[in-house]
Amino acid sequence: MARLWFLAFVVLSCAFASVVLAKPTFTVVGKVYCDTCRIGFETNVTQYMEGAKVKLECRHFVGGQVEHTIPGVTDKNGAYTLVLADNHENEICEVVLVESGMKDCAEMVPGRERARVTLSDDMGIPANVRYANALGFNKDVPLDVCKEVTKMYILDDDE
Ligand SMILES: *[C@@H]1O[C@H](CO)[C@@H](O)[C@H](O)[C@H]1NC(C)=O
Repeated sequence: MARLWFLAFVVLSCAFASVVLAKPTFTVVGKVYCDTCRIGFETNVTQYMEGAKVKLECRHFVGGQVEHTIPGVTDKNGAYTLVLADNHENEICEVVLVESGMKDCAEMVPGRERARVTLSDDMGIPANVRYANALGFNKDVPLDVCKEVTKMYILDDDE
């Protein structure tokens, strides 16, 4: 019986140690859209953009020097996934727009060029997903349907 207890103790200690010693891995997910109405928010005609280039950039929060840069590209749903290992509690990490995937929708929306993400975790949980705010570009020429779209959202506001 003592042997069994010892075995159980060893197995449990190993499991505990692997959880505590594992470095966390952060997965940052988010989307890039084209504001086809140049309206300043996502609408029913917002288009999620394939092939947009983004980067995850972490800067040291004292000196400001770039510590990590992870590039990424959006898929056909406008979604990207960026993976970075370790804790980054001494850094300020942001997802930053690099390049549009659409020629006619390449002007960055002010305030939607970057999104802050927090990549620190004192619990040492090995897998962490962080959702970044959507980043966007403005379309050169609004779609014809935008008059109706604008009306709809303004009417909704009045209610
Ligand atoms: C979006 O909403 C507008 C205004 O209600 C409508 O005219 C248009 O058909 C909608 N478009 C889509 C793709 O749902």
